[in-house]
Amino acid sequence: MSARQPAPDHIQPREFKFTKDNMDIVYHHINKYPEGRQQSALLPVLMLAQRQHENWLPRVAVEHVAEILNVPYIRAWEVATFYTMYNLAPMGRHHIQICGTTPCWLCGSDEVFRAVKDELGLTHGHVTDDGEFGMTEVECLGSCATAPMMQISTSNWDHYFEDLDYENTRKLLQELKSGKMPKIGSQKGRVNTEPMEGPTTLLDQQSDYEKSKKAG
Ligand code: FES
Repeated sequence: MSARQPAPDHIQPREFKFTKDNMDIVYHHINKYPEGRQQSALLPVLMLAQRQHENWLPRVAVEHVAEILNVPYIRAWEVATFYTMYNLAPMGRHHIQICGTTPCWLCGSDEVFRAVKDELGLTHGHVTDDGEFGMTEVECLGSCATAPMMQISTSNWDHYFEDLDYENTRKLLQELKSGKMPKIGSQKGRVNTEPMEGPTTLLDQQSDYEKSKKAG
């Protein structure tokens, strides 16, 4: 199964409607734009549909969004098929997106792919039999300073997991499998994109920095 190809007909649902709570969110997005410009809300409303539908967009959901925003179906479909953040087929309740672009590759993304294969038996474009995990290789996610990294998306959250290696990738996957939320961000303890050994500039502000770091 590929996240970029529509799911086969036999798993496409016949209907999709936003829940009442999500319709309130749809109107919230529409109201950000001038009257008659509701199509500007297309991206967040498609994402809301994806989140409501177990992290993938069936055709009927794209149609429903197009109808609400009064845009031609093909326009909504063009957007859904262009941006890789939209899954056109089920990619697991935890969709693992590993960056394989050059900086991540140079810093060891092959070991991340190996860890996912060893822990979950997954390679690109596959989903575990229980539907819990799916994996795709993606292009740069803009976090090259903490390479190698991956994003994991569910219906409720998207987080980056950074400074990965074989061991810490397996560990965080084991935590997810046991229902725990792994540490988000760097898996090697650094704050944001500071050097691994700690800050090397603005050291006169070090005491304030250290205090805030300790305070969490
Ligand atoms: S190359 Fe991997 S996040 Fe940029």
